[in-house]
Amino acid sequence: MNKKIAILAGDGIGPEVMTQAIRVLDAIATKFGHKFEYTESLVGGAAYDKHQNHLPQETIDVCNNSDAVLFGSVGGPVDKQHEAKWANCEAKSILALRKAFNFNINLRKMALYTEIASLSPLKPELLSNGLDIVIFRELLGDVYFGEHTQTEKNGERYAFDSGSYTESQIKSIAEYAFKVAKTRSKRLISVDKANVMAMSKLWRQVVSEVAKDNSDIEYSDMLVDNCAMQIIKNPSQFDVILTSNLFGDILSDELSVLSGSVGMMPSASFSSSGLALYEPAGGSAPDIAGKNIANPIAQILSASLMLGYSFNMLDEAKIIDEAVKATIVAGYRTGDIYTKGANEKMVGTKEFTDQVIAFISK
Ligand code: IPM
Ligand code: MG
Repeated sequence: MNKKIAILAGDGIGPEVMTQAIRVLDAIATKFGHKFEYTESLVGGAAYDKHQNHLPQETIDVCNNSDAVLFGSVGGPVDKQHEAKWANCEAKSILALRKAFNFNINLRKMALYTEIASLSPLKPELLSNGLDIVIFRELLGDVYFGEHTQTEKNGERYAFDSGSYTESQIKSIAEYAFKVAKTRSKRLISVDKANVMAMSKLWRQVVSEVAKDNSDIEYSDMLVDNCAMQIIKNPSQFDVILTSNLFGDILSDELSVLSGSVGMMPSASFSSSGLALYEPAGGSAPDIAGKNIANPIAQILSASLMLGYSFNMLDEAKIIDEAVKATIVAGYRTGDIYTKGANEKMVGTKEFTDQVIAFISK
């Protein structure tokens, strides 16, 4: 197969983990006889330097002409957030991309590797069976694209945000999440705040209607405050979580650290047009950029999601996931997942990927 991939490496560790993900894709192309054509394009601070714009039209055009988008990360150092290059850089790049391409469905995947479970903030007895959780987060509704204003009212400062959901927005992601739940262990928990919010009441109505058409899936609702608690009390009850934009933002960060490092969670954003964007859920980590110490796993697994979901290359995706797992089992560790175990070798970003590639090319 021939596939065109837009490469938006971005800032911080983005470019170096992207380089490694591309090496992995090349190894897959060689093994399976595919041709991947990459077009690099600027986004985030890197784009601002050249275009004074965090998401230039040129980049949008490249995405439009591609079969899928592989995204790195964007954003600058904490102490430079006042500079125009970095001010609101994440929102201006990522939110603008979501809006431009109608990416309404976000999937983030959390997997616990038992070999490094000691890094998890959770107690070992909660993790003995491993963890494998997918969270679906709606991306275009809720308070994200509503009104955001700060004014004065009655002589004091006053802030106002608005949020909304339409029935079709909820239905679109719910149907997708139920479809994916069928390919997993057939359990789905929908998370809302239906005891307070109108958006959540509608969410629950629509999701329960979609559930009726998917009676083979064990479905339940959970309030978001309880869910935040259950994730750390009894995480193995979760398989597929389905939730709205803001709750999904918060809960996916909570899930991402259960594995022991934020550098391990891949994500995918889908739109009804068929184009999808794949990116690590973690940030650009400018403090460790350029040192060959960043964990490339989230970027490599994002490439795997791309092969599976956008190109239907299921064997190819599976072999990448297995290669990452095998590399961990063999004891190779980037610094963030090094536990000083007897069988462990601390390696760099590139050297870790060398092992992933060696496994693929076997
Ligand atoms: C995420 C991020 C973004 C979000 C920010 C950077 C706007 O936190 O993708 O989870 O809130 O959606
Ligand atoms: Mg977030």
